Amino acid sequence: MTRILMVCLGNICRSPLAEGILKSKLPEQSFVVDSAGTGDYHIGGLPDHRSIAIARQNNIDITNQRARQFSRSDFDAFDHIYVMDQSNFQNVINLARDTVDKSKVKLIMDMLDSAISDVPDPYFGGENGFVTVFEMLDQACEKIASTLLND
Ligand code: 4NP
Repeated sequence: MTRILMVCLGNICRSPLAEGILKSKLPEQSFVVDSAGTGDYHIGGLPDHRSIAIARQNNIDITNQRARQFSRSDFDAFDHIYVMDQSNFQNVINLARDTVDKSKVKLIMDMLDSAISDVPDPYFGGENGFVTVFEMLDQACEKIASTLLND
């Protein structure tokens, strides 16, 4: 079993999409995919309605997800931790206990040969931001899935 965790700030916009998209690309008998937020604002809440909508338009249901906060024990529970932006990266790295923990943490956009390092936070923008985020995450997750499946 390979275990992958997607992390953003609120765990309601970007990382729930990343979780749903990556799950759709991997066989569930061999992979666990989950998500969490570094913040505690939305614990227990559903994904943002705009994330639910863009996922649904792409035949992915994320309404089973509930927000939770990233915790240090996630370093033990997961093999790969993908963060959405450099702020998430710093927050997660600050909780790492050692170099093994640190080695698990990667910016998700580093999976692509792109000059863009951050998945923009769409929370305070309009619906269009969610379309852009979905497309970025779909490309990054395609690369993650193909890399994991070829290992
Ligand atoms: P996310 O977006 O990190 O992609 O889930 C956010 C959601 C909520 C807030 C910030 C970012 N917030 O400040 O409540």
